[in-house]
Amino acid sequence: MTTLPATHWTWPYPRWIAHRGAGKLAPENTLAAFRLGAEHGFRMFECDAKLSADGVVFLLHDATLARTTNGHGIGGDLPWHDLSQLDAGSWHSRAFAGEAPPTLEALARFCLANGHLLNIEIKPTPGTEAATGEAVAREAKRLWAGAAVPPLLSSFKPEALAAAQQTAPELPRGLLVDTLWDGWFEKAQVLDCVAVVANYALWDAATVARVHGAGMKCLSYTVNDDWAAQHLLALGTDGIITDRVDLFSPC
Ligand code: G3P
Ligand code: MG
Repeated sequence: MTTLPATHWTWPYPRWIAHRGAGKLAPENTLAAFRLGAEHGFRMFECDAKLSADGVVFLLHDATLARTTNGHGIGGDLPWHDLSQLDAGSWHSRAFAGEAPPTLEALARFCLANGHLLNIEIKPTPGTEAATGEAVAREAKRLWAGAAVPPLLSSFKPEALAAAQQTAPELPRGLLVDTLWDGWFEKAQVLDCVAVVANYALWDAATVARVHGAGMKCLSYTVNDDWAAQHLLALGTDGIITDRVDLFSPC
């Protein structure tokens, strides 16, 4: 992989991306979820990656363990061995009892073996933005070495993306925005992002034109109804992250 400015980047990703694996149909960010998303025809997934206390990149959305595992406290405070013993499936349903939280490496193996693509959202435990961005980029570079299509790294945290850029400039980056905060556009450019990944309600024709004019793609999260998806496609946006793997046909 070589470093290319956003204006020369050939977009390799499909329009449809399954959020956290399979949305709400399976426990988010478990391998079971990514398998289910794939069974529904999705070729690309979004996941949330953070850092264990001993430096292992693993999948978890929240800073804390309580909502999606049988653990307690801050996930990033535990070493990987302890995290790996947790049940990340029972909270969802009995059918998924015993699902472990996976490492990024385990998900990479699944994606690479099956030709699936990945959007890795860098989701730092608060206070670890730069360390998490660096670790995720280093691990993604190692795991996807020689792959035809690299993972797309995204984050709401510019500091995490800056660390990723420093560590593995060749890996494509997307700035996540939940609001159009002062300086978001300039920050995406400084970070040499290939995409802006926005709360879907933020897109309008002028914002799409501005982002496209800078050579970046326009992606949306989290789009779960057909009206919104049709609107975003009519606006000319380029990618949709959805929970509704059962509603949308990704082909
Ligand atoms: O990466 C898109 C989306 O996942 C961002 O929000 O909170 O669902 O991780 P969240
Ligand atoms: Mg996410």
